[in-house]
Amino acid sequence: MSIERGQFSSKLGFILAAAGSAVGLGNLVAFPVMASKNGGAVFLFVYVLFVALVCLPVMMAEIAMGRRTQRNPVGAFAALSDNHGGWRMAGKLAILTPFMIAVFYTIVTVWIIIYLLKALTGNLGELAQPETFGAVVGSPSLFVYFVILQVLVFAVLLSGVKNGIERQARILMPTLAVMLVGLIIFVMTLDNASAGIRYYLVPDFSQFDSTVVNAALNQAFFSLSLGMGIMITYGSYFSSSDSIPGSSRLVAIADTSVAFLAGLLILPAIFAFNPATNPEDLSSSSVGLIFTYLPQIFLSMQSAVGFVGASIVAAVFFALVLFAAFTSLVSILEIPISYMIDEWCFSRRKAVLTQAALVSFFAIFAAMSFGMSPFLTDFIPYGGGPKSFFDLLADTFSEVILPFVGFLACILCSYRWRNRGLSAELSVGDESYAGSLMEKYVDFSLRTFIPVVLLFVFLNSLAQKYFAFDLLSLL
Ligand code: PHE
Repeated sequence: MSIERGQFSSKLGFILAAAGSAVGLGNLVAFPVMASKNGGAVFLFVYVLFVALVCLPVMMAEIAMGRRTQRNPVGAFAALSDNHGGWRMAGKLAILTPFMIAVFYTIVTVWIIIYLLKALTGNLGELAQPETFGAVVGSPSLFVYFVILQVLVFAVLLSGVKNGIERQARILMPTLAVMLVGLIIFVMTLDNASAGIRYYLVPDFSQFDSTVVNAALNQAFFSLSLGMGIMITYGSYFSSSDSIPGSSRLVAIADTSVAFLAGLLILPAIFAFNPATNPEDLSSSSVGLIFTYLPQIFLSMQSAVGFVGASIVAAVFFALVLFAAFTSLVSILEIPISYMIDEWCFSRRKAVLTQAALVSFFAIFAAMSFGMSPFLTDFIPYGGGPKSFFDLLADTFSEVILPFVGFLACILCSYRWRNRGLSAELSVGDESYAGSLMEKYVDFSLRTFIPVVLLFVFLNSLAQKYFAFDLLSLL
């Protein structure tokens, strides 16, 4: 490839950019919803096990694929398989997935913008009403913010990886973590928060079933930005003097910590504001949960800091969530863009503009799935009821397909990338890796149980989501 690739300027730059990609709405919005739906502490327990034992090796493999080949996902799958057509297709799936994620992610980010503006303009009371969420997502005024968001995202993407992505993450990510901790301390002082803490931290293993396993693995993949070509692409910008195992570990820890904190904020809040909450009531929670409980947390701060103070806290918090979502969105879109630059020889400008047009096209339909268009709202029936176009995208590309792409990456690394290429690449920039316990674990697990787990969860998620059927019931 004659085109020069951008590079992260330092190891810290990579970690911040990768963490900036990983920490987003998946941690702050989806994780607490998933945890409350799936038994609280049981979910947390399975999630952490998956991150440590399954996701971390997959992350290392994906970054190594990118660094070795210096290519986008299609190029990387092709290069490591000696240009095999089937593997190229697998690479294409790793382009399509982030593209589709970007479509629904854009819409949720627009909702955050609207919440931020409402908090800033003194409408916190309105936000805390349960009906507000439905009104916000169904209102055509959302398109105004949609256009603003698109312009900002694509402007950042035009300036390229180093200026565009790396710089933003430095201050705001740590601020977000500090703010989360502050809010958690506040929520802990509310009556009945302890019921939520118990639900979140003391596992009730009778709640353990295959739905929890599927939800935890899919959520972990989404949250760590795995199975969607991101880490492959980021790996292609990763310097060969830095350690992939070490950086991956830090990214996984940072991402999981933020998700953990978001859960520790929201679950106790649910129980504090609704003392009559029964864990069974939570099994049908949806994203609306976060959009109602967060404003309630802020509103209840009124007695301590006054309405203006509470509105300021809310606005700062939504601004940080928006920032986290923004860095993730930029990173998602970088994948199809770098694909077009590498494989279709587009200029960055042409690739960015093409993506902007394509994403906007689909995102408009996704935005109209909440009542504006009856056709898109009741788009397709599956899994026991009518689903919207937005649901179809979100379910498919965040709760089904990711482990499959991860599975393909594992098989490629373990069985096609010859001469133990993966271990050799992981040792570049990390002298202590070769011969370490970590190396043995990664090598063994990627060849054996990780692909099995990923394939099983993929097939079972498919069966459960679309056909309301559990493969385990066949046993
Ligand atoms: N991992 C990000 C999050 O948790 C989302 C994301 C998805 C980022 C896909 C990049 C790619 O919100």
